[in-house]
Amino acid sequence: MVSYKSLGLVNTKEMFKKAHQNGFAIPAYNFNNMEQLQAIVMGCAESDSPFILQVSSGARKYANQTLLRFLAQGASEMLKELNPHLKFALHLDHGDTLELCKSCIDSGFSSVMIDGSHHSFAKNIELTKKVVEYAHDHDVTVEGELGVLAGIEDEVSSDKSTYTHPEEVEEFVKKTNVDSLAISIGTSHGAMKFKPNMCTKNADGILVPPPLRFDILEQVEKIIPGFPIVLHGASSVLPYYVEAINKYGGKLQDAVGIPEEQLRHAAKSAVCKINIDSDGRLVFTASIRKVFHDKPDEFDPRKYLGPARDELKKMIIEKNKNVLGSAGQGKNIFA
Ligand code: G3H
Ligand code: 13P
Ligand code: ZN
Repeated sequence: MVSYKSLGLVNTKEMFKKAHQNGFAIPAYNFNNMEQLQAIVMGCAESDSPFILQVSSGARKYANQTLLRFLAQGASEMLKELNPHLKFALHLDHGDTLELCKSCIDSGFSSVMIDGSHHSFAKNIELTKKVVEYAHDHDVTVEGELGVLAGIEDEVSSDKSTYTHPEEVEEFVKKTNVDSLAISIGTSHGAMKFKPNMCTKNADGILVPPPLRFDILEQVEKIIPGFPIVLHGASSVLPYYVEAINKYGGKLQDAVGIPEEQLRHAAKSAVCKINIDSDGRLVFTASIRKVFHDKPDEFDPRKYLGPARDELKKMIIEKNKNVLGSAGQGKNIFA
């Protein structure tokens, strides 16, 4: 049993409180390997942004769960050198069983998500409650979810709603005692968030998706005022990187994300955590493809993973400063 406190990590309580009070959101960046981790730690240290290091069960399998724990521990030590007052939370993304959540808590995670959104309301409450009981015994915070994020195959329309039902949130939060709640207001995972026929084209020929359902968010905020809300599927899928991927031999069609304007709006509201994975993947891929295109004789991994890491770090600083509003907030929370 390893406590996250012995690794120098924090749970999400204090950072969410400050994010809510001051109208910004904490970035939750997913990682699978060392270079992504370096980019996140260096980018957040440089911009003095509180952050959440996010690990999916797939990432845990990919990296090896023991190695991953030590990578996070190493990141905590490295952060002390780069920005001594800053701390981060290590969070399980989309946990689906009590056993997985327990295993993460026992190996040093400071926060877990239990995603019971595909279950019935009653089963979701039952499962989430069990995770919360175990987590709170270890001072670990828990994120629950209500409403299913649309997949590209799902029709996001009012007649077939997978959006969060605001009338369910109060009972869910009270009965489970969760610390934060992920809601569904029109985002989805991946780089193809909307079908082209759901979008309009702007003057530059770029697909513009339908707006998020901020009316649902506002209803939720009224019902559970001050409660931290989480936005999944929040990558912007920046056209610049999609174009670079396609220019250097990739084939990504109809990639559309959430416009940054809408994320800025969300960050100022009760949304305290914004999840970003796909944007990091796109930046990495664009950068590696460019090196392979420009220098076909290159075969030292440091020569293509290094530039990818640097570009990802740049993207992270940019997001913290201009989208999440979290840059510069580290000293207000931890110093
Ligand atoms: O929500 C999903 C995250 O982007 C993690 O994706 O399961 O492929 O690691 P993954
Ligand atoms: P994106 O696919 O939009 O980056 O969303 C990531 C996410 O929600 C991780 O839980
Ligand atoms: Zn997610």
